[in-house]
This record gives sequence, C-alpha cells and structure tokens, in this order.
Amino acid sequence: MKRNIVITGGAGFIGSHVVRLFVNKYPEYNIINLDKLTYAGNLANLKDVEDKPNYKFVKMDICDFDAFYQLMQDEKIDGIIHLAAESHVDRSIKDPFTFAKTNVMGTLALLQAAKLYWESLPDKYEGKRFYHISTDEVYGTLSMNHPEGVEPPFKTVASSEGHKAYGDNFFYETTKYDPHSPYSASKASSDHFVRAYHDTYGMPTIVTNCSNNYGPYQFPEKLIPLFINNIRNRKPLPVYGKGENVRDWLFVEDHARAIDIIFHEGQVAETYNIGGFNEWKNIDLIKVMIKTVDKILGNPEGHSLDLITYVTDRLGHDARYAIDSTKLQKELGWEPSLQFEEGIEKTVRWYLDNQEWMDNVTSGDYLKYYEDMYKTI
Ligand code: NAD
Ligand code: DAU
Repeated sequence: MKRNIVITGGAGFIGSHVVRLFVNKYPEYNIINLDKLTYAGNLANLKDVEDKPNYKFVKMDICDFDAFYQLMQDEKIDGIIHLAAESHVDRSIKDPFTFAKTNVMGTLALLQAAKLYWESLPDKYEGKRFYHISTDEVYGTLSMNHPEGVEPPFKTVASSEGHKAYGDNFFYETTKYDPHSPYSASKASSDHFVRAYHDTYGMPTIVTNCSNNYGPYQFPEKLIPLFINNIRNRKPLPVYGKGENVRDWLFVEDHARAIDIIFHEGQVAETYNIGGFNEWKNIDLIKVMIKTVDKILGNPEGHSLDLITYVTDRLGHDARYAIDSTKLQKELGWEPSLQFEEGIEKTVRWYLDNQEWMDNVTSGDYLKYYEDMYKTI
C-alpha cells in the first residue's frame, strides 16, 4: 500500500535511524524527512539514503503552521511520525524558552495542521496516524531503594551481563507524569496536547515513551558520544555529581524497529513504553566505555581511568530512570535485538571509525558545509 509519511526531526540522531529504516523497508512509501536543521540536525547522517526515489528532504520549522498545512495538502500526508524536538536536558536548563517553543508550540502546530487537513477529506481520519515520540523523563524520577542493585524481575536481550535493578519500582504506561527539567516539562506538555487531540477531535494518535538511546550519529553533547570522543582525545570526562545516577539504555536501531511496529500495528490512543530493562549507574557505564575504547585503541587496561573528573551536578538531576516495556513486548511482540556490551562495542567502533563525522560536528563544519545547499532547497 502506498503511504505518504512525514518524519519530523529525521536529520537528528533517532530520526535518521527511523528514516533509514522506513526508506529501505518500504520502497512503496513516500518518505518525507522534515527538519529545520538546528545545530542537532545533520544531513550527513542520511548520506546512504538521500538518493533513493522514495525519500525527500524538506527544510522546515515545525512551528511554521502555514508551511506545514501546505505540505500536508501538497503531499497528501496520511501519517506523521514526530521526533523533531530540542532534546538535550542541559540546554533546557540554560534556555527553557526554546524548548517550550519547539517542543510544545511546534507539536501543537503539527497537530492543528493535521486536524484541518484530515477533517477536510471525505474519509477524514480513516487510515491516518499521528505518532508522537516521547521520553521516559516525563515520568519524573524513581527512588533507588536498592542502591547496590538487586536481581531484576525482568530481563531482555539488551540486559547487560550481571544485570541489576536499582529499585523495585519501574515506569509503567500508567505512571503519573511528574517532569522535573524544562526539557521533560516541555515533552510532557506536548504529550498532553497529542492525547487531547485524540480525546477532543478523535484524531488517531499514539504516544510512546522511550528510555535513553545510544548508537551511531548521536550528537556529542550527550554522555556516550561525548565521552568516547574525549577518551580518544585524552580530554577530561566530566562526571556530574557522584556518577551514581541511573539510566536505562537501549540501542537506537531497536528503538527505530519499535517505532516501525507501533506505527503499523499499535492501537490508536494507546501509550507504549519502550526500553530494554538495562539499568546502569553512570560511573559503571563510563568504566565500560573506557575499557572498550582502550581495548580497541590498543591502550593498556585502565589507561584512561585518570580522565574521570567529578564536576558540579546537573541542576535537578533525576536519580533513576527504569522503563517497564512488558506491554509492548506482550502485545506487539517487540523485543530488543542487541545485548548491551555488544551494542557499546559496536557504538565505540562506529565513532572511532567515523572520525570525519565527529570532527565535522565538533568543529561546526557540517553547518557551514550545508549552508549553501539549504538556500537552494
Ligand atoms: P536530536 O536532538 O538528535 O534531533 C532532533 C532533530 O529535530 C534535529 O534534526 C533537529 O534539527 C530537529 N529539530 C529541532 N527543532 C526543530 C524545529 N523547530 N523544526 C524542525 N526540526 C527541528 O534528538 P534525538 O535524540 O534524536 O531525539 C528525537 C526525539 O526522540 C525527541 O523528540 C526526543 O525527545 C525523543 N527521545 C529521545 C531519546 C534519546 O535518548 N535521545 C529518548 C527518548 C525519546
Ligand atoms: O531518558 C531519555 C532521555 O535521555 C531523552 O529524552 C533525552 O533526549 C536524552 O538526551 C537523554 O537524556 P539524559 O539527560 O539522560 O542524557 P545525557 O546523555 O545528557 O546524560 C546521561 C547521564 O549522564 C545523565 O545522568 C547525566 C550524565 N552526564 C551527562 C553528560 C552530558 C554526565 O555525568 N556528564 C556529562 O557530561
């Protein structure tokens, strides 16, 4: 079946993996990557699919209601997979306005344009879908009532060797929203707007909340690519606070596969949590990264441990995230494909093998390189 799908934020980290998956898997679809190309958007992430006949890039701000409404009509859009957002917590602490504008008002602009277009059609919302990608951070923070770690109630392929849980509590789809950072507050607000468009107008919406992603093409302001690059360059590794905060990590391609399954088979108006039951204290994860980079670079074991530098904690730093994704696994048969240590090794190798990508991003050259091209699009 032919479908006309807009993927917003397709030039970013997760979006580029989703675009690649859809373009390669569904040659009969018309896939439009809509991205403003902020500092986080980089078309080099999609070099391998940019010439495919079912792929098109449109440079647009999601806050531009008129432009998006026109695009909906021109391209007869029947599916929206919405990833475009400001995504970095530290930036949100410094500049919350940009987060409210993009994440809240931008999402609202997409919803309203989709509503007006779809309601103007004879079959209205039939066969349409507005799928909003959100985060586990909207649920707030979990207590660490087992600080030394306990045997977890669940394991998946992603769960690391000797996997532990740091509490007996998890984020469920029914967990009450309790966001703490300006980033998570803006994502929570956008999630509420999406659900409101279903409840008020009957728009066929879906929301998913995913844990921390890692893998190729992640902007090196985020922990894993930043630290891999700093270890390689013998630069300090700034560990916030005591390094004891816990995050739940999922390989990005497993997230993209979940998005594919949920877009096609998920129930309208439902929420699905996406995660691999793979909790790590930051400091333990950092030691795994150091070990992996040192091994690949041929350094003696422990060589880069001296780079660990404890710094002032992030304001409002959430203690622990841990997602329960049982619903998605049971109802739609998704499960992660990659064990964590394998995923980290694959990721480290990718960044070390793609130094040109990293150098372009860290120097800002990728922004200049595309400047002229943007003008012609
Ligand atoms: P990212 O920062 O790497 O990419 C965001 C993309 O959105 C960029 O290409 C950027 O140019 C684009 N964008 C930003 N503002 C825009 C605007 N106004 N108009 C159009 N495009 C704009 O982010 P990511 O890590 O890939 O996250 C993608 C989505 O997934 C976000 O909604 C985020 O909240 C969510 N999410 C991320 C994670 C994670 O671990 N990274 C986990 C769960 C959910
Ligand atoms: O949980 C999902 C979220 O994961 C997504 O919604 C966000 O978009 C994504 O950025 C990510 O948020 P985090 O804040 O968890 O990711 P980040 O990589 O910034 O930080 C991971 C942990 O590492 C966190 O506890 C803060 C810590 N940290 C981070 C950086 C950048 C450090 O100790 N030092 C650092 O330099």
